[in-house]
Amino acid sequence: MKFFVDTANIEEIREANALGILAGVTTNPSLVAKEGVSFHDRLKEITDEVDGSVSAEVISEDAEGMIKEGKELAAIAPNITVKVPMTLEGLKAVKAFSDLNIKTNVTLVFSANQALLAARAGASYVSPFLGRLDDIGQNGVPLISEIAEIFDRHGIETEIIAASVRHPIHVTEAAISGAHIATLPFKIFGQLVKHPLTDQGIEKFLNDWNNQK
Ligand code: E4P
Repeated sequence: MKFFVDTANIEEIREANALGILAGVTTNPSLVAKEGVSFHDRLKEITDEVDGSVSAEVISEDAEGMIKEGKELAAIAPNITVKVPMTLEGLKAVKAFSDLNIKTNVTLVFSANQALLAARAGASYVSPFLGRLDDIGQNGVPLISEIAEIFDRHGIETEIIAASVRHPIHVTEAAISGAHIATLPFKIFGQLVKHPLTDQGIEKFLNDWNNQK
C-alpha cells in the first residue's frame, strides 16, 4: 500500500514529501477552503512539489460543468487527477475524462456497488471513506475488502484509495484489506512512526553511549 497525504496545506505537503514515502496528494473543497488561497495557485504549488497524483475536486453538480472544470484543472499540470463525486452525473463526467486520458478519483464512495460503477465508467481511483462510515456506526474496513475482492475477481485495474482515515489502526486495516493507497491527514504520519519502546530504546542507547568508561 502506498501513501498519499490528504491536505491542501503546502507546508504539510513539503514535510510529508521530505519523508521520502509520499506517492501523491488528495485535496477536497473543505481542505482548500481552510487554506484561504486561490485553488489553482495552490494546485500549481503542490504539483511543483510532488511528482505523484494530485487530486483536485470539481464542485459542479452536472456532468457538463464537471467536465469544463476538470479540463481546466488538468491543464495545470500533467499529474493532476480530477476528483469527481459519486453521482450519476459524476459517472458521465468520469467516462468523458477517461476518453480524454484525464485521470479521475471518484470520491464519497460508501458501497461496493458505487466503486464497481465508478471503475466501469473508467475511474483511475475510487475513494471509499472509512471514518465517515465509522461516524454513523458502520464499520468502514470491510468495504475495502469487498471492493478489493470484486476488482481482483473481475480484473479491474482501478486503484482503491482508503480515505477519511482517522487513526493508525485504519492504516493497518486498509493495508490488510487490499487498499492500494491510503490518503492520510498529515498528523497520522507522525502517529505511525511513534512507538514508546522505540523512544525508550533510543534514550537507553544514548545514555549508555554517554556513560561509557
Ligand atoms: C479523501 O480524498 C478526502 O479528502 C478525505 O479523506 C475526507 O476525510 P474526512 O472524512 O476526514 O473529511
